[in-house]
Amino acid sequence: MNVRVSPTAEDLARVAAQAIHEALQQALATQGRATLALAGGSTPRATYAALARLPLDWTKVELFFGDERAVPASHADSNYRMACIELVDRLTVAPAAVHRMEADARDKAAAARAYAALLPDALDVLVLGVGPDGHTASLFPGSDALVATTRVAFVVGPKPPLERLTITPPVIAAARHVVVLAAGADKADAVARALQGPLDVRGTPAQVARHGRWFLDAAAASSLREPEPRPSAPPALPGQTLVGDIGGTKVLLALASRGPDGRLVLSDERRYGSDSWDGLEPLVQDFLARTGAAPARASFGLAGPIIEERWSAPNLPWTLHRPSLAESLGMPVCLLNDFEAAGWGIAELSDEDVVTLQAGEPVKHGPRALIGAGTGLGQALLLWQDGRYVPIATEGGHGEFAARDEREWRLRQFVSQRVGGRVSVERIVAGPGIPLIYEFLRDQGAVPETDAVQAEMTGPNPAAVVTRHAMAGDDRLCVLTIDLFVSAYGAEVGNFALRTVATGGVYVGGGIAPRILDKLRDDTFLRAFLDRGRMRGLVERLPVRVIVNPYVGLLGAAARAALP
Ligand code: 6PG
Repeated sequence: MNVRVSPTAEDLARVAAQAIHEALQQALATQGRATLALAGGSTPRATYAALARLPLDWTKVELFFGDERAVPASHADSNYRMACIELVDRLTVAPAAVHRMEADARDKAAAARAYAALLPDALDVLVLGVGPDGHTASLFPGSDALVATTRVAFVVGPKPPLERLTITPPVIAAARHVVVLAAGADKADAVARALQGPLDVRGTPAQVARHGRWFLDAAAASSLREPEPRPSAPPALPGQTLVGDIGGTKVLLALASRGPDGRLVLSDERRYGSDSWDGLEPLVQDFLARTGAAPARASFGLAGPIIEERWSAPNLPWTLHRPSLAESLGMPVCLLNDFEAAGWGIAELSDEDVVTLQAGEPVKHGPRALIGAGTGLGQALLLWQDGRYVPIATEGGHGEFAARDEREWRLRQFVSQRVGGRVSVERIVAGPGIPLIYEFLRDQGAVPETDAVQAEMTGPNPAAVVTRHAMAGDDRLCVLTIDLFVSAYGAEVGNFALRTVATGGVYVGGGIAPRILDKLRDDTFLRAFLDRGRMRGLVERLPVRVIVNPYVGLLGAAARAALP
C-alpha cells in the first residue's frame, strides 16, 4: 500500500503534482516522450494547477483522459474543459497533443473504439480520482465496464452527467505509474474499502488502482486502519537504503525506509534505460545527485547469477564486484539475484499485494517456490531458517523447455530454428516468447493474421501488443497465443512446484502475471499446473498466489540489506 497523507488539500495537490512531474521526467529521460491521462471531477483541479507551474518539456507529452462525460468540450461538466482551464491553458507551450474523449459523439461505440486505438499500450502516468461510492474514472459499482474486453467503454452511470466514456481495468493495470487523488471525509469509506477491504472490484472499482500511489488528505484517510504491527519485529533499518532492480533493459532505483509500523516505505522511484549508461555507478551517482539523498547502504537485485560477489549483466557490458562497488559508492552494498530479492520481498507484502488462484492447504514454514515470467523466467526456492524465509537463487529458467504434446513439440522446433539450437523454457515462457508463439501459430495457419496487428507487431513491444489484444479479446490469433503461453506457464510453475514441494506456497511473480490476471483466473493456468500425473494430489494442496505489487523486488532488496 503506497499512501501519502497530507494535512490539507493544498498540500495534497503539491505533493501529487510533484509525483506526477517526477514520473513524467523519468519517462522523458528514458523514452524521449511521455503520455499522461487525466482524471476529471473537482479534486484534481489544484493538482493540475500545481503541475502547470513545474518545469517540464510539455512539447513531448501527450495528454489523454481516463473518462469524459457526454457533453460538448465547452460544457461546464466537461473534464476536457477543466483540464484546459487548470493545466493546458496555464502552460507556456502546448503539449504534443491533447486527445479529448469524444463522449458527446452520436455513435458512442465508435468513439470508444477510436479512443482505444489512440491509447498507448501502457500509459506512463495515469491520474485517477475516487467517488464516495468507490468508483474510479467512470467505472461505477456493478458496471459491466469492469469486465469489458475493450479498453474504452460507454457507460451510463449514477453520477450526472450520466452518459460517459471510460477507460477499463486493463488500461489501469498496464499504466506504469498510477496516481490516485482523494480528498474529503465523504471519500473516507471508499478509500478504506479500496485499499484495505476484501477484494471486490465490482463493489469498489477503485480497487483496480490498489497498486498505485495514493495521495489523500487527512479526511479521506480517516477510515484507514493502521496496518497491524508486524508479528515479528523486522530487523532495524536505520536511515535510508538505496534499492535497485537491475533488469535486462531497465534499472529501477528508489529509497527505502521502515515506517513507525515496521513496514517498508519506498520513495523517489526513478527508472533508467540501462543501455544509455556505461555502468551502475554513474547511474547511481545521477540518482543521488537528483534526489539529494544520502543513504546509509545500497542493495541491488540483479538479473542473472552472482558468483563469489561478482555479477556480469546478461546483455550489457556491465560487471559488478560487490566490495569494489561498496568502495566506489562509499557505503555497504548488497548484491542479490533479482528473484532472490523478490523472495525476500514476499515477507514485506500486505494482503492486497497478493491474489490467490488456489487456496490449497498451506503448511506453516513449509518450503516456498517463487517463479515469474518477465524479460526472463526467474525461479527461486525459499526455505524457513532461523525464524525467517531465506531465498535460494536459481537459474531454472534456463532449463530445457518440456514440450507436452505434438503442438508444443512443433513450437519447440520452430523456436529452435529461430534461436539456433537448444530451447530453454524461458525462450517460450517469458516476454520474448509471446511474439514467437504468435508467429508460430500464424505460420501454422491456426488463424489468419490481421493487417492491423501485423503492423503493430513491428513496434518496439510486440509482446504488449499481443497481450493487449488477447486481454481485449479482439484478435483471435492473439487470444490463441496467450492461451498457449498461459498453459505452458502453468505447466512450468507445476514443474517447479514439484521440484520444491512448495507446501508453504507457490508464488507467481514477474511483470507479466499482473497484466494477464483475468486470464490466469480462468482454468487454463491451473489446469496445466495441476496436470502433474501421479502427483496431482500433491499440487492440489499447494497454495498458488500471484504477486501484484510491482515493487516486491525493491522491498526485498531493502529487507535483505537490514540483515548482517
Ligand atoms: C469524473 C471523474 C470521476 C471523479 C470522481 C471523484 O469524470 O467524474 O473522472 O472518476 O474522479 O467522481 O470526483 P471529485 O474529485 O469531484 O470528488
